[in-house]
Amino acid sequence: MSEAQIIDGKALAFKIRAEIAEKVAAHQVKPNLAVILVGNDEASLIYDRNKQKAAQAIGMDCHIYHLEDSASEKELLELISQLNNDERVHGILVQLPLPPHMNALHVLTHIDPDKDVDGFNPYNVGLLQANSPQAFVPATPKGILYMLEQTYSDLTGKNAVVIGRSNIVGKPIANLLLNRSCTVTVVHSKTQHIEEIVRQADIVIAACGKPQIVKADWIKEGAFVVDVGINRIDGKICGDVDFENVRQKAAYITPVPGGVGPMTIAMLLENTFDAFVKQNHLKF
Ligand code: GUN
Repeated sequence: MSEAQIIDGKALAFKIRAEIAEKVAAHQVKPNLAVILVGNDEASLIYDRNKQKAAQAIGMDCHIYHLEDSASEKELLELISQLNNDERVHGILVQLPLPPHMNALHVLTHIDPDKDVDGFNPYNVGLLQANSPQAFVPATPKGILYMLEQTYSDLTGKNAVVIGRSNIVGKPIANLLLNRSCTVTVVHSKTQHIEEIVRQADIVIAACGKPQIVKADWIKEGAFVVDVGINRIDGKICGDVDFENVRQKAAYITPVPGGVGPMTIAMLLENTFDAFVKQNHLKF
């Protein structure tokens, strides 16, 4: 039995970013992404700086608006209104999670759907569910689908099991795969006999935030395993999949780090470029 092919998300993301950079260079005006961070969550700070570096590296403008942890929801909504009305800003992203005194759904609903490059405004969530090509698709699920479609020219009829039901990954990837005619099952913390369900899967999306919970004996031989987790064990980053053992069973596997993470940033940049094109009525 051979080991799984490791899907190199870093290399794929590099290629996608280079393609966007070329398109950006063809315009006088730079696409401009506004990132809003509330509070001082360490991981969020690192994620946002990485997004900013990646945007700037391909010739986009990107500003991080950093609000205090104590900022009110009203202040945040006012900032979003200001960015909604600023025609120099093409994309707006509010980093999640927000502090507990804020209502994330209320905040995300306030973002202009045409600038909603995260695709978290319920308007875009609805468009994705309705299989509209106009939807902004959230970056992580969009990156996952891109990787799957590099390997499979047609996903029709594949059995996909999504582990985790978050608004950021689980629900949107389930909808995307359903729209590609997969048979989709979403399992979560209250599901009974998870491993028996996962064992039926041709495609496993592990997005539950539990370090190395997905074991080799959960995996059908020849499956494609996508690991969305970013966890730490003794300071070392690991995913939701027991990588070393699962790779003996799967046909394809995404590593952590270097799999879904870099693809997420590439897809955010793609969404930002699409927003720029849409707002300037350009054709590409
Ligand atoms: N927090 C974790 N993932 C994401 C993401 O993709 N976008 C935003 N805005 N916040 C996140």
